[in-house]
Amino acid sequence: MEDATESTHGSGNVSEPEEDRYADSDFRPSKLGTKEYWEDAYQKELETFKDIGDVGEIWFGEESMSRVLRWMDKAKIPEDAAILDIGTGNGAFLVELANHGYKNLMGIDYSPASVELAKNVLQAEGLADVSVKEMDFLKCQGELKDFDVCIDKGTFDAISLNPTNTEEGKKLYVQALKGALKDKGFFAITSCNWTKTQLLERFNEGFEFVQELPTPSFQFGGKTGNSVSALIFKRVT
Ligand SMILES: C[S@@+](CC[C@H](N)C(=O)[O-])C[C@H]1O[C@@H](n2cnc3c(N)ncnc32)[C@H](O)[C@@H]1O
Repeated sequence: MEDATESTHGSGNVSEPEEDRYADSDFRPSKLGTKEYWEDAYQKELETFKDIGDVGEIWFGEESMSRVLRWMDKAKIPEDAAILDIGTGNGAFLVELANHGYKNLMGIDYSPASVELAKNVLQAEGLADVSVKEMDFLKCQGELKDFDVCIDKGTFDAISLNPTNTEEGKKLYVQALKGALKDKGFFAITSCNWTKTQLLERFNEGFEFVQELPTPSFQFGGKTGNSVSALIFKRVT
């Protein structure tokens, strides 16, 4: 995840020597890992939405939502499946899911402004019945459970960038995810900061790798890489 002023993972997902792939040391903490950053960002996006109806940033673009929806179709995820959008931001993915026919949706975010923005966006789409809650995923302590599908687009990335307790945060994330998913429930993660190999390493206990969703690749300096990784896991106990 990058912003205009700082690169958080200089090499993107370009293939790297094995020892570097697992090292978090090249992963510099960033303001994108703080609640203050997101609160400020969504306050501004909320004002813009109220002014001109623009929902703001679609992280990793529209295609990042379409590819997960295509997978959900192929996997025959039923319309009444309980689906959680972890770190929902402006709620744009919830809108896409609802418009695709999914009826049992919940979005959570730890930024109050994000929650207000998502609620406003959903209401404007006539989807005010979709539940959006202010909640820190790392502190949800059993409040989130029995989901058939958990979706993450950029939230594990943000959590990984927290300047304090980075390793602890990642461990808490995995714990919370295990608690939120039903046995054999699916986890769809889209990340720009972690490679497939690193994500497989992180979600290796309590999860089974299902498949990688194709994402655009690029070539740089004789190496091939992907700007984002999109992986599906299944919760196994
Ligand atoms: C890169 S944005 C992605 C937002 C949204 N998923 C999207 O694709 O547009 C990261 C989101 O994660 C949220 N977030 C970060 N840490 C969180 C936490 N511990 N609990 C809940 N939400 C969190 C931020 O507030 C922000 O909305």
